Amino acid sequence: MSAQSDAAASRPGRWQPAVTQDPLLRKHGAQGEGALGQPVSRIEGPLKVQGKARFAAEFPYEGLCYAALAFSTVARGRIVALDTAAAEAAPGVVLVMTHRNAPRMKAPSLMMSSPTAAGASDLPVMQDDEIHWNGQPIAVVLAETQEQADHAASLVTADYAPLPAVTSFDEARKTPRQLDNLLGQPPVVEIGNAEAALKGAAVQVDQIYRTPRHNHNAIELHAATVAWTGDELRVHDASQLLDLTAGQLADIFGLEADKVRVSSPYVGGGFGGKCLWDHQILACAAAKLAGRPVRIMLSREGVFRIVGGRTLTEQRVALGAGADGRLDALIHTGIAAMTAHNSCPEQFTFPARHLYAAKTIRLAQEVADMDMLANTFMRAPGESVGTFALECAIDELAEKLGLDPIELRRRIEPEKDPTSGKPFSARHLIDAYDKGAERFGWNRRSATPRRQRDGEWLIGMGCATATYPYHRFPGGAARIRLTAGGQVTVSTAVHDMGMGTATAQVQHIAARLGVPLAQVSFEYGDTTLPRGVIAGGSTQTASIGGAVIAATEVFVEELLKLAGNDSPLAGLSLADVETRDGGIGHRDDAARFESYESILRRSGRGELVCEAEAPPPAEMEAFSMHSYGAQFCEVRVSEITGEVRVSRFLGSFDAGRILNAKTATSQFKGGIIMGIGLVLTEETNFDPRTGRIVNASLADYHVPVQMDIPAIEILYTDIPDPQAPMGARGIGEIGITGVGAAVANAVYNATGKRIRDLPITLDKLM
Ligand code: MOS
Repeated sequence: MSAQSDAAASRPGRWQPAVTQDPLLRKHGAQGEGALGQPVSRIEGPLKVQGKARFAAEFPYEGLCYAALAFSTVARGRIVALDTAAAEAAPGVVLVMTHRNAPRMKAPSLMMSSPTAAGASDLPVMQDDEIHWNGQPIAVVLAETQEQADHAASLVTADYAPLPAVTSFDEARKTPRQLDNLLGQPPVVEIGNAEAALKGAAVQVDQIYRTPRHNHNAIELHAATVAWTGDELRVHDASQLLDLTAGQLADIFGLEADKVRVSSPYVGGGFGGKCLWDHQILACAAAKLAGRPVRIMLSREGVFRIVGGRTLTEQRVALGAGADGRLDALIHTGIAAMTAHNSCPEQFTFPARHLYAAKTIRLAQEVADMDMLANTFMRAPGESVGTFALECAIDELAEKLGLDPIELRRRIEPEKDPTSGKPFSARHLIDAYDKGAERFGWNRRSATPRRQRDGEWLIGMGCATATYPYHRFPGGAARIRLTAGGQVTVSTAVHDMGMGTATAQVQHIAARLGVPLAQVSFEYGDTTLPRGVIAGGSTQTASIGGAVIAATEVFVEELLKLAGNDSPLAGLSLADVETRDGGIGHRDDAARFESYESILRRSGRGELVCEAEAPPPAEMEAFSMHSYGAQFCEVRVSEITGEVRVSRFLGSFDAGRILNAKTATSQFKGGIIMGIGLVLTEETNFDPRTGRIVNASLADYHVPVQMDIPAIEILYTDIPDPQAPMGARGIGEIGITGVGAAVANAVYNATGKRIRDLPITLDKLM
């Protein structure tokens, strides 16, 4: 164990990840309105519906000017002529910035390459005449109004000397690149000789699955309002990584880190896309050049041109099984498109590392570099498309075996993690299946396709496993401030992009400190607060939890010191006490108690402020920690048009303790809706001749709308994970996983057609 754990062990009562449980799990928390788990409505809801919640593009500044971008029209080459004269002469134009007059800036560094790296790409931003993708910004126009900026940007023209570009996946895949690591995991995992075991297996499935590019389309367009005061930079961003953005901007502009303040109180959807892209950097540079504050809000086309999305994959899943279903071989391999300038290899083999017991396993993935916009994280990168392939193959295997697909999964449920050998912290996948199956009426499904119809509509049911890893980031800190009046404020630079962070944290803090909801505030969304963690990888809640536990320990110890010898708490230490009823009490002696207010009053303090950093995530090293779920889908497919309609959907999740029934349900449903888009409608069409995205609008790129989505039912086990803060694992991304396969399996059950190439559009079913 680490030095940190030794130190913790010497201080009884401290939480030691992987050794002791979060003390909150031992508390018999209040069950009333507002208690942890209750469906509290978003606390910022009233502000939002009144239009009082200010988003990144809504901050007023004296002398503000508006930015618009012009984009390259070739995938690779050099700019040989750039005509900005017409734009400069257009009404209201303040200036036009190009590589010729842009301030000199360092290139961003790739996310995860250092503690302050936030770059989605490490390409220089408007520093030279080189073009790296079709759609790269070639000019920034600043004007007095957005309309004037947009108009002037349309007048910028460029000539290019094109360079050879790899713009077709078929071309790129001829020279695949091996990865050194896959988000910190080995890119290749081999247990035994899986190919040999596959050949010898009684029953085999061996298929190729394809998934296309997807684009980020959060409702709120990417935006930032930026202002310089001397060498101090103020950025109002729409962000899911505040501290990294501040550190990265400081690095790019050669500033001390504390000269950059980034805030992002409200975000209209993130999903992995609201990170640092060229627009924030260009806005800061243009503001510097103009000596005026700048607002940049990308057009919807702009989001397609400069904000990366999910990349395309081609995956092979091969399963070899005995007649009883037990797996002799589990093979999941493939290739994803990427660029030489980004860090998101789309880890589609991650689910297969942890889901099923198999005698032999082979998992391997590589990438094919293309000259395109850097692809990036998009809700459950890897797992969303990885579960499509794996869970379709499991369904195909179940059919060959003549087994119900849930029964097959019961037979291959592992006792411990199949690739790491670690124990599971908690795993109730089969529970989730059983509860979901009962509620969904799975027993009404015919194992044979095309058995149920309603006029022209063929009806089918499918299911699939959802899974997403638990992760807790180190380095986050939290501050607790208690006032003499008993108000508690907890502060940390984290994010609420609409998922309910602040609401769940108010509930969490009230439960942890034993105070009513009305006395709790949660401050977030600003880099002047104690360093927070990113809102990514479904990690934020657990990460905040770790920091709040640590801060609470310091808080209780400070209060015990202040309480002194005249208190009923005299002589007690952290290990002896718990927080309850607005104060501190002996764990086993109800009579020994003193309220926070009384301790502060007696000690003559007006307030108490404590800050601490979360202990390192030792639980992740000791245990295999994942959320799980069972997705159930019913579809109706028109035999005449091939149109697919999802008629019922149910997600049954095992994600540890649920902190807020309303916001969690909303997260799960949102994931499922995005999954329905992934499987049925979404596809970024990329012209392989030019590398240009041709459907860069919501008219041409189809996200699901209300009419595409049936009532969705959500169940959850609500069984606390003993290793996680609050017993809660992440829930932001698991909802999208497994949806692709559940729908595809239902389409097969309805029609007898296996579509292994997303999206499942009607032409593929005709
Ligand atoms: Mo998520 S794709 O880590 O916001």
